[in-house]
Amino acid sequence: MLIKIPKGWELPESMVTSESNYLNRRSILQGMASAGLIASIGSAATFRHAFADTMDPSAKLYPVPRNDRYTVERPLTPEKIATTYNNFYEFGSHKEISEAAQALKIRPWTVKIDGMVEKEMEIGIDDLLAKMPLEERYYRHRCVEAWSMVVPWSGFALKELVKLAAPTSGAKYLVMQTFEDKSVAPGQKQFWYPWPYTEGLTMEEATNDLAFMVTGLYGKPVPKQNGAPLRLATPWKYGFKQVKSIVRFTFTDKRPITFWEKLNSDEYGFWANINPEVNHPRWSQATERDIGTGERLPTVIYNGYGEFVADIYKDMKDQKLFM
Ligand code: MTE
Repeated sequence: MLIKIPKGWELPESMVTSESNYLNRRSILQGMASAGLIASIGSAATFRHAFADTMDPSAKLYPVPRNDRYTVERPLTPEKIATTYNNFYEFGSHKEISEAAQALKIRPWTVKIDGMVEKEMEIGIDDLLAKMPLEERYYRHRCVEAWSMVVPWSGFALKELVKLAAPTSGAKYLVMQTFEDKSVAPGQKQFWYPWPYTEGLTMEEATNDLAFMVTGLYGKPVPKQNGAPLRLATPWKYGFKQVKSIVRFTFTDKRPITFWEKLNSDEYGFWANINPEVNHPRWSQATERDIGTGERLPTVIYNGYGEFVADIYKDMKDQKLFM
């Protein structure tokens, strides 16, 4: 994510690997690999990924049935790209964190559900998975940085988790938090970030059909770099809402101040709904680059999901819905 310079903690835009540089670097690396120059590094990495997969007890659950209500007219982004071009600041403020993220231990993994609920609970990820109806959905995925992908997520509707949690009638927001462990996530030693990464939705958003808890990707458990073992997908909102590696769900009547909002509320807000007509203060949101095909495409309001979500916001004109 690009953030403005002025304070010491902010990365200048020139330091962020641009997408074209990044992809060039990949093709150079691929060329080297096919020439045998980095074969040994490649096989060590492949081994680590394969080993991680066999250690994930949820692997046997996939693939899961596809829900055809959620399809996308564009081609799926190649798995290689979606799993190596990531934002996960806990592991670095650049896109190439996939190797570093392998340090995250995803078993045991306990999820806490607390706040305004009938009964607070802690549940292990595999027990949670066993209770939830898993399905696959193809979703558009649009980052505030103006790149986009099409990804086959597996998981379950967030409203199923809300049902399990049984919030009390006063609950207005659902707050979600990422794990915190400096010993595996070096980014969390950077004290100027407001860890843990925190995001939130209104109850109406959280129980909308589109709000999805991701547990898988490309018919397998979701990789660590994409937010294993549990991350959010809200495809009508910019990617920064889609909090990864969640350990805590809190129901509350107070709107949370979210991670990016705390860092820079002039650029990143609570709502973050996609709108081509509302530019980021430093760049246009009118178009986006499909990172798989390289095509530049017009951005669509609510990322094309208006039929599902526009009603939520119809009486909220006074809010900054699109930043
Ligand atoms: N969640 C955590 N915990 N930390 C992060 O840095 N980055 C967000 C979001 N979730 C982020 C996060 C941003 S900016 C984006 S665009 C998406 O994750 C990227 O998801 P992807 O890497 O699966 O494409």
